Amino acid sequence: MNTSILALILAAGEGKRMKSRQSKVMQPVGGKPMLVRILETLGGISGVEPAVIYGHMGDSLKAAITPDYPQIKWVEQREQLGTGHAVQQAQALISEVGTVLVLLGDVPLIRRGTIEQLCAQAQQSGFAVLSAKVENPFGYGRIVRDDQGRVLGIVEEKDATDEQRQIQEINSGIMAFSAEVLQRYLPKLNNNNAQGEYYLTDLVALCAQDGQEVVAKIVDEADEVMGVNNRRQLAEAENVLRRRAVDALFEAGVTLIDPSRIDVHGSVQAGKDVIIEANVLLKGEVVLGDGVVVEAGCVLEDCVIGDETLVRSHSCIEKSTIGKHASIGPFARIRPNTALSDRARIGNFVETKNAVIGEGSKVNHLSYIGDAEVGAGVNIGAGTITCNYDGVNKFKTKIADGVFIGSNSALVAPIEIGEGATVGAGSTLSKNVSAQSLALTRAPVREISGWQKPKK
Ligand code: UD1
Ligand code: CA
Repeated sequence: MNTSILALILAAGEGKRMKSRQSKVMQPVGGKPMLVRILETLGGISGVEPAVIYGHMGDSLKAAITPDYPQIKWVEQREQLGTGHAVQQAQALISEVGTVLVLLGDVPLIRRGTIEQLCAQAQQSGFAVLSAKVENPFGYGRIVRDDQGRVLGIVEEKDATDEQRQIQEINSGIMAFSAEVLQRYLPKLNNNNAQGEYYLTDLVALCAQDGQEVVAKIVDEADEVMGVNNRRQLAEAENVLRRRAVDALFEAGVTLIDPSRIDVHGSVQAGKDVIIEANVLLKGEVVLGDGVVVEAGCVLEDCVIGDETLVRSHSCIEKSTIGKHASIGPFARIRPNTALSDRARIGNFVETKNAVIGEGSKVNHLSYIGDAEVGAGVNIGAGTITCNYDGVNKFKTKIADGVFIGSNSALVAPIEIGEGATVGAGSTLSKNVSAQSLALTRAPVREISGWQKPKK
């Protein structure tokens, strides 16, 4: 038996209702283009070979997807004459596999397990359609059954009678076939319908009339098969993903001050008693230790935050590691490759990048610390800048343990400040400072007594 599964993702349509300059399937939902989401879902299923039917804006689609998915097969549908016509373009691929799974590029929330069950069903019965029972079936194809519940056909909204429009069981558009059944019936489609298109959905009636059983499997959660044709539905899909993420966070023991105001565009691993305030965006892979508090308006991407650390409001942390009992923000920007040790404090309007900041060190106000190694117990005064860039090359700043840097200092890298040294406020230093010494550059104060202010 041929156990390979060809997964055809239909993505050739223009998606007019989206009113976009890019292909509909490139619209992001949950931080990822719909097509990428589907490819990721397929990724975990063994024996699946994905192929994308492309057409409209196909070149940019291919260019966007190929770098991450070089193994995908691309099948062109030059003119978009319907979903059945789209599948017909893949004839050559169909003859090589055992099972064909058809997915729609604009049905992005489908889960792996559901796909696996549908394929297993098709391997048994030859043809399986995924359906759903919904409150408002408007716009979807309806599953027509006889009084014994056998599936007779699918009728599109535009072709349906008033009576058929009352049917609340809809076609998800996701189907699976034995390759043999598909090859037998696919050439028989015609375009005698309201839209003048070759509907893939007509295969159901063709099979049913011919005695080839069609099983419509009703999905447990209708959300999984929602179609995304316009911006409103895109936002609804985003909501579904938010609900899934929120459920997982609650399950993990996280407190969300308002579960309707969080976005998770990736995966979160959270310890006990984490609190996340409103309007927080978590991207990529985020790990939050026990007792972490993330205040309102923060954006955290690909980072690890240690136990009991407080991330105060409106801070951004990107590709960085933060220790335990640390404090960041409000309004801090932690850029990639920052490693903040335990009990370190980063205050408001501080930017760090490619920097190691030692245990208990403080950078509390208005500073830039880049390409730097800062030891433990260091105090960096307000407005300190590591001048790491000469316009061409970047250089490193090393600040040893116990250093005190006075406010408004410019440290011109490469530079090393020795252990326990003090830098006087307002200094611009361009050479190393020895341990335990005081270094400063400061113009002498001049005082002119009895100064007359200018007059109009
Ligand atoms: C389709 C189904 C409908 C189902 C709904 C589920 C048909 C005829 N209708 O309707 O029964 O309830 O999906 O969301 O199948 N595409 C191509 N080439 C084409 C036409 C479409 O690749 O020639 C692609 C589109 O890019 C899109 C997908 O197929 O990703 C679905 O097409 P769309 O026009 O959105 O179909 P619906 O009207 O939503
Ligand atoms: Ca659609």
